[in-house]
Amino acid sequence: MIGAFRDLGRRGLFMFDPETAHGMSIAALRSGLVPACRITNDARLRRTVAGLDFANPLGMAAGYDKNAEVPEALLKLGFGFTEIGTVTPKPQSGNPRPRIFRLVDDEGVINRLGFNNEGHDAAFRRLQPIRGKGIIGVNIGANKDSTDRIADYVAGIRRFYSVACYFTANISSPNTPGLRDLQARESLSALLSAVLAARNEEAAKAGKKIPVFLKIAPDLTEEGMDDIAAEVLEHALDGLIVSNTTLARDGLRDQVQAKETGGLSGKPLFEKSTTVLAKMRRRVGAALPIIGVGGVSSAETALEKIKAGADLVQLYSCMVYEGPGLPGRIVSGLSKLLDRERVGSIRELRDSRLDHWADRNV
Ligand SMILES: Cc1cc2nc3c(=O)[nH]c(=O)nc-3n(C[C@H](O)[C@H](O)[C@H](O)COP(=O)(O)O)c2cc1C
Repeated sequence: MIGAFRDLGRRGLFMFDPETAHGMSIAALRSGLVPACRITNDARLRRTVAGLDFANPLGMAAGYDKNAEVPEALLKLGFGFTEIGTVTPKPQSGNPRPRIFRLVDDEGVINRLGFNNEGHDAAFRRLQPIRGKGIIGVNIGANKDSTDRIADYVAGIRRFYSVACYFTANISSPNTPGLRDLQARESLSALLSAVLAARNEEAAKAGKKIPVFLKIAPDLTEEGMDDIAAEVLEHALDGLIVSNTTLARDGLRDQVQAKETGGLSGKPLFEKSTTVLAKMRRRVGAALPIIGVGGVSSAETALEKIKAGADLVQLYSCMVYEGPGLPGRIVSGLSKLLDRERVGSIRELRDSRLDHWADRNV
């Protein structure tokens, strides 16, 4: 029955172009039409990561709720946390439409949105009244026409310091020309120095230290990963998010939409992003928090990210195909998998397949 509703909802939304369908799903969540999931309160799924207490390890990835319109509704779907943004200091319209494409046969998505968002002030106004109501991260970026990109990230830290549970510095969107260059060693060092200095100043004023994560691309060479790991450890960053969308187009069934420019996500990203996750875990050691994202579509794939080295997991694209019941199904599915694995905490399974994933080629 639920499956029938799911198919109906999906077929309904798939009649519209992806961006219109996305807007409709946000409107449905805002209106309260989407039923909340019965939250599984399984103590084995709880994790404390970067000083935050997560009821379960599954989060909504950045890009779905760019303007912080529905964080509470997303948490009610069963997510243990949600991430708003990417937000930039000034509002910007992004690239011309169409700019989101479904690869239905692959259960993938290609987007070249280019950080369309309403800017810092609009998101801040929405977040202020719901402060403290669940774990809400703020993903910050730079305006396309910015003359000082690092200053835009610093502005994000300062603007959202009183409302963010954590920050994500997103330097890995492929859709803002030159943004990924911030991953190069010298630029990354300058970015991390500035962002963490701003965070430390704000922490001294507020009396509380908000963690900062760095979100990286899956399209990295082994040397690129070495450089990022070295900088992350040197600057005492709080964690990594691995990964953003990929520019690769390997192994796709769809050969039409696949030609679109942009970042690919969803099922076709799972292997690549999980491999990079494990390779980064190997480089940064056991202590640094890592959030795994890319192609999570089920409890099994969520758990596989954890076995490859993730502390927490996020998803976005597969919800396009599976509907708003997906987070609830994954969280209850994780409990069942823990019964089978006979462990007292999901933490015990972290890194259990690290070598399997880290030894692969990207
Ligand atoms: C339509 C769309 C928009 C996205 N926008 C952002 C964004 O603004 N900031 C960001 O850090 N990631 C963004 N992402 C990337 C996702 O957060 C995630 O890293 C990526 O899609 C891989 O996860 P998935 O396969 O579960 O979708 C976006 C993804 C999609 C599909």
